[in-house]
Amino acid sequence: MPLAAGWLLRHSVVMCLLLHSLVLMTCCFHHAATSCSKDCYCSESEATGKTVRCSNLQLTEIPTDLPNDTRRVYLDFNLFTAVPANAFAGLPHLATLDLSHNELSQLEPGAFRGLGASLQFLDLSSNKLVNFDPEAFEGVRAQANLTNNPWHCDCSLQMALPRVDLEAASLTGIVCQTSDPADIGVEGLAFLLAPEIDLCVITKKTTDVAMLVTMFGWFSMVISYLVYYVRANQEDARRHLEYLKSLPQGSRQGKSEESSTISTVV
Ligand SMILES: *[C@@H]1O[C@H](CO)[C@@H](O)[C@H](O)[C@H]1NC(C)=O
Ligand SMILES: *[C@@H]1O[C@H](CO)[C@@H](O)[C@H](O)[C@H]1NC(C)=O
Repeated sequence: MPLAAGWLLRHSVVMCLLLHSLVLMTCCFHHAATSCSKDCYCSESEATGKTVRCSNLQLTEIPTDLPNDTRRVYLDFNLFTAVPANAFAGLPHLATLDLSHNELSQLEPGAFRGLGASLQFLDLSSNKLVNFDPEAFEGVRAQANLTNNPWHCDCSLQMALPRVDLEAASLTGIVCQTSDPADIGVEGLAFLLAPEIDLCVITKKTTDVAMLVTMFGWFSMVISYLVYYVRANQEDARRHLEYLKSLPQGSRQGKSEESSTISTVV
């Protein structure tokens, strides 16, 4: 009786392993048949089209094998640091792109090229974005989530904002963490909601002041050199005069007189 039970147990373990590999194999075949990106999970529905989920896979580079009929792609919670140019150019139907919770600090010019007509929602929240090149968003009119990034508000960011076509409300997600000039009071504020602050004018003003200070420094150096030069020459001339005066009285007296004039001058 215990022998039979042992046999049954061993067999069931083997059966279980067999079944497991069978399931894995069908999974793989299914994967290949639906042409999904490697490691990602694809699904399709009438209403939303093809959805590709590549969340939380420790990916460091944007997959290049996303199916060309993808409508939604979730690339959140990975380790991307940059979006290269044309990263999604082969996806003419892409409507939702989730790149949130990555390490993105750089969006290269043309990063979202080709998505202008289709993209409706772009999630870039919870990344490491400090600044951006407006050419990264060329033609993209989507609603974007730009919150939870360490935005550095300066003149270049101010210049970049009017050049993006993103839905205007999205830009309120740019909350300044640091600024240049610092301590101007925009930290913690949504940059768009502080329209009275013109970081470019302030920067220009501070450079003007710096120029003035430098010029004043140079000017005072030149003046003090001139004053020194004139005084030294005066002294020389006076000494020379004294020397001439003392000539007929002999050199000894002249010398003592000379030293006395020096002491009075000093
Ligand atoms: C996707 O690629 C296939 C084969 O390369 C092509 O036949 C199809 O038209 C493409 N679909 C889109 C939407 O570009
Ligand atoms: C934007 O992203 C943040 C954090 O990832 C989230 O809490 C917030 O709900 C998002 N906002 C929108 C409008 O999706």
